[in-house]
Amino acid sequence: MLKDVEENLPKNAKIIDMGCGKSYLTFAMYHYFNIIKEKNVIIHGYDLKKDVVESCNKLAKEFNFKNLQFFNEDIQNINKNENINMIISLHACDTATDYAIYFGVKLNCDVILSVPCCQHELFNQIKNDTLSSMLSYGILKERFSSLLTDTLRADALKLCGYKTNIIEFIDMEHTPKNIMIKAIKNKNFQKNVKNIENFERLMYTFNINPTIYKLLKDYFN
Ligand SMILES: C[S@@+](CC[C@H](N)C(=O)[O-])C[C@H]1O[C@@H](n2cnc3c(N)ncnc32)[C@H](O)[C@@H]1O
Repeated sequence: MLKDVEENLPKNAKIIDMGCGKSYLTFAMYHYFNIIKEKNVIIHGYDLKKDVVESCNKLAKEFNFKNLQFFNEDIQNINKNENINMIISLHACDTATDYAIYFGVKLNCDVILSVPCCQHELFNQIKNDTLSSMLSYGILKERFSSLLTDTLRADALKLCGYKTNIIEFIDMEHTPKNIMIKAIKNKNFQKNVKNIENFERLMYTFNINPTIYKLLKDYFN
């Protein structure tokens, strides 16, 4: 996963992990870039849980990982205006993923990698007469709402000038939450009004107003 995006990052890249939790990925990523690849990457992790952030900072000190730091902050309140090269979020809950993506776009990051989970937002909004039969089954409605949420996230990133793909980042046997939205800044991006109309049509079709749209519509090109 990191190998695939490495060429899009400078040697001294600055990376933010949004909703880092116990930060297994964050530590592994730091090890990969700074120890194995001998780069000078700075990584900051953000999480709501104070105790987890404290123990991650302690561990970073023990490993002497000088460019790895953790902050106890809601990602919705992060107010940064600096040069960040990559945003990652791994299983950040529900709309926290939207905020992670939003910061990536707002800060004009080269790479945004996001593995969503708990996509609850659209479940209570979604309505569609043609699909009413499918949507009457709770489990199917939940799965469909998740897929629609991630479709709109990926499409929104495209409209903001990113080459975007949805991939399986790990085998299903490890976790069923294995969909990753992978977005790389598209330097040759060209505005296409029709794509914005298609995006909005999809929202109207399902009677939804997702957070990703509210956060990113002003960045659509
Ligand atoms: C399922 S855990 C995943 C942790 C880690 N990324 C991993 O994959 O092991 C989700 C984490 O996101 C954090 N989180 C959720 N919403 C957040 C928010 N708005 N701001 C910061 N952290 C948040 C939670 O506290 C939790 O630690």
